[in-house]
This record gives sequence, structure tokens and C-alpha cells, in this order.
Amino acid sequence: MKLFLDSADAKEIREYADCGLVDGVTTNPSLAAKTGRDYVELLEEIAGFLPAGSVSAEVLATDFDGMMTQGRRFGKIGKNIAVKVPLTMDGLKACRKLRDEGLDVNVTLCFSAVQAMMAAKAGATFISPFIGRVDDIGEDGMGLVRDIRAIYDNYGFTTQILAASIRSVSHVRESALAGADVATLPVSIFKSLLNHPLTDKGLAAFLADAKKAGVEIRGT
Ligand code: E4P
Repeated sequence: MKLFLDSADAKEIREYADCGLVDGVTTNPSLAAKTGRDYVELLEEIAGFLPAGSVSAEVLATDFDGMMTQGRRFGKIGKNIAVKVPLTMDGLKACRKLRDEGLDVNVTLCFSAVQAMMAAKAGATFISPFIGRVDDIGEDGMGLVRDIRAIYDNYGFTTQILAASIRSVSHVRESALAGADVATLPVSIFKSLLNHPLTDKGLAAFLADAKKAGVEIRGT
């Protein structure tokens, strides 16, 4: 499964971009607003950190023409940009057209399996079901990912399922089990993926044993 950072904070993205485990970044207008920076300039910087990854850039327009203008502008930033459009009729029309023009498209704000089917029919590169926000209203976010996986497999849709609005390490585990292609995570959760108390305990014991016995690695 690919892992993206769900962040617009260039400093924190830079810190993790070259660890070899980050496959992309998703931004959205709320995350960008927090930085107080020019959105295009910010995206140019982030896209530069991950030339072989995928960086989602969300349009602010809600009409087809506006989305096309903004999507094409984002596309000029680099080949690694995925234009993010909302799951509306104009959004899906823009999705189809931008895909025809050779751009990657991430269809965002997906809350139902039939919405995801429509995005796949529009040729979306990624569909973003918002797991945490579905859970927040008392429904089953992970069930949504499973339903989308089943529909896409039934019909051979190649749209990648990008599990979004992830709130915990368990969400990542369950997304992987449900067959999501990508999960996008806040940096705090990305860091937590490596944590296990037995790893820390085991490492401390190995090093203590080696020190006690004077074990060294010759030639280093
Ligand atoms: C990613 O593309 C989404 O914008 C993001 O995951 C939304 O997460 P939130 O529900 O925590 O705002």
C-alpha cells in the first residue's frame, strides 16, 4: 500500500520526504490556509520534494470552467501533480476532461460507494473516501472502503482507492486489510506506524548484551 502525508506543512514534509517510505502528499484548502502561504508557491515546493511521488492540489472553483483553469495551472507545476476536484457533477466533468488532457485527478469528498463508482466512470486516478468523517456521523468508514473495493474489482475499474481522513494507526491497518491502494496520513500518525514497545525493549536488550560482552563490528 502506498502512504501519502496529509499535510501542507512544507517543513514537516521535507523532513520525511527522503526516508523512502513516503509515496506522495495530499493537501486541501483547509490545510493550505493554516500555512498562510501562497498555495501555488507552496505546491511547487512540496512537489519538488517528491519528484517521483504524487502531490494532490485541490481546486477552489466549484464550476467546470473554473476547475479546468485552476487544474491546468496546477498541472504546470509538474508531472507529479494530481488535481483534486470535489465529487460533484462539475467536478466529475472536469475530472474526465483533465484526464483526457493527461493530468492525474484525485476526486475528493467521497462518502458513498456509488459516488466512488461515478468517479471511476469519470476516469479518476484516485478516489478519496473520508473514513474518519464517515465514522464521525455514526456510519462505517471502513465498510465504505470495502464496498468501493468490491465494486471496483467487480468491474475492473483501475481508479486507486485513497483512504483519507485517517485518524488512527488502526485505520491504516484496516485500510490495508480492506484493499485500499493508498492511505493518506497526518505526520503524527505516520510516525506512530513504527512504534511498538517490544521493539524498543528488544533493541535496548540487544545493545546492553553487546556492550557487556564487548562485541564490536570490526572494520567500521
Ligand atoms: C485528504 O485528502 C483529505 O483532505 C483529508 O484526509 C481530510 O481529513 P480530515 O477529515 O481529518 O480533515
